[in-house]
Amino acid sequence: MRERPQIAIDGPAGVGKSTIGERVARHLGCLYVDSGAFYRALTVLAVAEQIDPDDDELLAALATSSNIRIVTPTIRDGRQYTVLAGNSDITPILRTLEVEKNVSRVSRHPAVRQALIAQMRAMADDQAVVMVGRDIGTVVLPTADLKIWLTTSIEQRAQRRHSDLVASMGAEAPTLDEVRTEIARRDDKDKAQMQPAPDAYSINNDALTADETVARILTLLHQRSHREAQP
Ligand code: DC
Repeated sequence: MRERPQIAIDGPAGVGKSTIGERVARHLGCLYVDSGAFYRALTVLAVAEQIDPDDDELLAALATSSNIRIVTPTIRDGRQYTVLAGNSDITPILRTLEVEKNVSRVSRHPAVRQALIAQMRAMADDQAVVMVGRDIGTVVLPTADLKIWLTTSIEQRAQRRHSDLVASMGAEAPTLDEVRTEIARRDDKDKAQMQPAPDAYSINNDALTADETVARILTLLHQRSHREAQP
């Protein structure tokens, strides 16, 4: 175990990675890094500069020259982190419709990924991190001290998401069937990056609350450091 541990939490969309990752980081007093926020931040910059989301060369140049950083929240407005591009706080515009529409296309170019992954690694070299995403344990931090592969059945994910939408949209919310279809479509789109690392611990949280899942991860971490401390 490193002095400044790296913990990787991967899995499909909608399995609770961000809630769980942030709580694990809070317990350990280390930085929570949402890798998706890097791809979203680059998409914000690309949209502002009117770069075509299919133009891998311009996007990679933008990614290399951009100074995207994730830091602990600078404002108490319920955010999990603050994302800075240079000196600008772009956190409030990471989830606009424009970003949602383009982020998947922007993030699929290998040269873009390479440039952003270098920035993610630099952050994890500097300090202890809990990093969440899809390819953290396999590609971004292949030597992470603990790797978790989080899963939830599609039925559970659809039900949780549907309840959230009903709570926020009432009668306007899409049906459970529509939500399920959308989740399956997104899984299919993200498929290329969705391989658990061979040394990842798999946790299915269908029957676990977020806090129970966090407790399980902290136990695994404790066992690991205890094992390493044995003579
Ligand atoms: O997790 P999210 O919805 O914020 O991710 C935004 C986009 O970034 C999504 O299209 C998938 C992509 N992404 C990725 O390709 N690799 C990661 N490690 C994290 C996110």
